[in-house]
Amino acid sequence: MRLLRLRYSDFRNLADVELAPSEHATIAVGQNGQGKTNLLEGLFFLVTLKPLRASRLQELVRFGAERARVAGTFLLGGAEREIAVEVSGGLRQAYVDGKRASSLEEYFGGVAVVAFTPDDLDVVKGGPEGRRQFLDRAVFNRFPAYLRESRAYGRALKGRNRLLKDHVAPDYLESWDVTLSQTGARLWTRRRALLTELAPRAVAAFAAIGRTVDPAAYTYAPAHLDDVDFQSAAEPALARALHEALVRRRARDLERGFTSVGPHADDLEIRLGERLARTYASQGQQRALILGWKIAEIENLHAALGFLPLLLLDDVSSELDPERNAYLMDYLAASGAQTFLTTTDAALVEKAASADTVWYRVVGGTCTVEARGEGPASG
Ligand SMILES: Nc1ncnc2c1ncn2[C@@H]1O[C@H](COP(=O)(O)OP(=O)(O)O)[C@@H](O)[C@H]1O
Ligand SMILES: [Mg+2]
Repeated sequence: MRLLRLRYSDFRNLADVELAPSEHATIAVGQNGQGKTNLLEGLFFLVTLKPLRASRLQELVRFGAERARVAGTFLLGGAEREIAVEVSGGLRQAYVDGKRASSLEEYFGGVAVVAFTPDDLDVVKGGPEGRRQFLDRAVFNRFPAYLRESRAYGRALKGRNRLLKDHVAPDYLESWDVTLSQTGARLWTRRRALLTELAPRAVAAFAAIGRTVDPAAYTYAPAHLDDVDFQSAAEPALARALHEALVRRRARDLERGFTSVGPHADDLEIRLGERLARTYASQGQQRALILGWKIAEIENLHAALGFLPLLLLDDVSSELDPERNAYLMDYLAASGAQTFLTTTDAALVEKAASADTVWYRVVGGTCTVEARGEGPASG
């Protein structure tokens, strides 16, 4: 998979921007507030249909414009395909080769992206919601059906929570509990499968980043789930266990007005040695734990899909200590992946660059190619 061209129309502050990215690193340099993150966000949205930053879809549309559009021409299995996404009236629509995409799986086939942002670096010490989202991004990448599956779960959860807020009699919850336990068990098996593949790679990557004797551990922690061995139970057994837990917690959930058990309440536990990294690891170690995870995700996708995902790195170099940043830049340069980096300071990412790097200067929502390096083009 390779991205050949990318075009933004009225996407945030990018009124009309066209990029011709490098096969390897493409680097956008600019001061704060110019549109660097918007560039990555548009690409991430194109490939995942999900916003990179927590925001309402309508915020992606340039102020005063009707519709935002991002389109990319990809080389997929030897053929050029155009995928595009539009947002207007708070809704999104995906297109493949100019036609409305009939299924999300069709839309996603063959394209994957791993994004790494400064927000990710705070995931270890933040709340469980951030870690669930962090985990889910990796699951979406690995199992495109997960997008549809997690929407089905979300609808069921909303339905049950609505009844809880209406203080219905407990028996009225039964049909939602059945749906929730079936859709929830599916999310569990997806998350579990992803972690089984990814955790050993992340542990190894963390060990290679170095400077910590304690090994890392990344494990799934289901909330309030008893009487089932989460690691080994088959999906129907997980569904039964979730159903039982939902039934058991009906009275208390009615009292509190929300559902207290299920994939939306779980956590991704990240440990250093025996201890929770959230409270015990230094900031540098926490960031290395995330870096290890991201590298594992790239390698895992490569192994599972047979191609490297696109890599998006939004201004992370300024947040890593010099040694870990150097490790990351070396890794990127050696990976051969098509990579998009943003930075306010070109010197921080220089090691990820090579002769075919395309440099852009971003100013006020416009991008211009900037000649660099020691060749005659540098002037
Ligand atoms: N919907 C929108 N329409 C127009 N401009 C927007 C929109 N959303 C954000 N912006 C502008 O985008 C700029 C921030 O872009 P961003 O990519 O985050 O900058 P940075 O270069 O620091 O990463 C701000 O000037 C903000 O006002
Ligand atoms: Mg930014």
